[in-house]
Amino acid sequence: MSPTALVSGDAHPALAQAIAREAGLELVQASVSAFADGETRVRIEPDVRGRSLCIVQPTSTPTNERLMTLALLADAACAAGAARVSALIPYFGYARQDVRKLPGEARSAQLAARLLAAAGVEEVIALELHSAALESAFPMPVAHLQADKLALGMFQKNHVIVSPDAGGLKRAQRYAVALAAPLAVVAKARTGADIAVPLQVLGDVSGRACFIVDDMASTGRTIAGAARALAAAGASEVHAFFVHAVMAPGALERIRGAGVRRIVTTDSVGPVASPGVEVLSTAALFAEHFGRKDMP
Ligand code: R5P
Repeated sequence: MSPTALVSGDAHPALAQAIAREAGLELVQASVSAFADGETRVRIEPDVRGRSLCIVQPTSTPTNERLMTLALLADAACAAGAARVSALIPYFGYARQDVRKLPGEARSAQLAARLLAAAGVEEVIALELHSAALESAFPMPVAHLQADKLALGMFQKNHVIVSPDAGGLKRAQRYAVALAAPLAVVAKARTGADIAVPLQVLGDVSGRACFIVDDMASTGRTIAGAARALAAAGASEVHAFFVHAVMAPGALERIRGAGVRRIVTTDSVGPVASPGVEVLSTAALFAEHFGRKDMP
């Protein structure tokens, strides 16, 4: 269902503006500030009674603040009499913590989703959640969009589409099938929360140009490791596309240092201002979801 207006959180106003422009939707002004002790204060000033509002806010770094601001904006919209509140979350933080992998860990994704439901969010629009299973963490309906339409324009038929781990194989397979391109996968082992060790390349990459595709780059170790494994297996050149540029400090240097030539991502997490990194806008994708634009 298309909202009648968007509200931007503090995480990515440029994307909210771009979606509003693409979709021809009003952008309702909201202010986000902080009290002296650091508590977040939000206010939606215009009269929004009876309106269907969609709040645009990736819950990217600093994740806790972004998430809380989103919840506060939803609460403010409900308190101001909005008829319906949805949340457009281009990048959903805490997505990698949806199951307890070790005894004693929290189910952070479920908790974040319940917080949004408690704040009055009736629908979530998300892009490339870490796993499809994550949809069930949300108590409200989730429109789970994929970035395929953005990504497919970049590849050439002679590229080998490579998943850097087994978890991303479905995405890489989708791309490879759509392009009638060859497919490969790097078998990876995790030895720690942020440590990935590539084990073996499955598929023929010798003398071929490879495009690694993944949902996100955080430390960049997964992509860098896969790039090195591909080079060792004889790939002639390696490029990488990841949807979410989470990019912890050092990630870009790590990816570049592994010899990755083209680095392509989207603006889902926030503005990306790294020279040499190609950034695809997600605005048209969301406008299309609202039924207000047709993408080729
Ligand atoms: C893993 O399951 C994900 O699909 C990504 O490969 C991973 O989260 C990337 O993280 P990093 O850049 O820290 O290796």
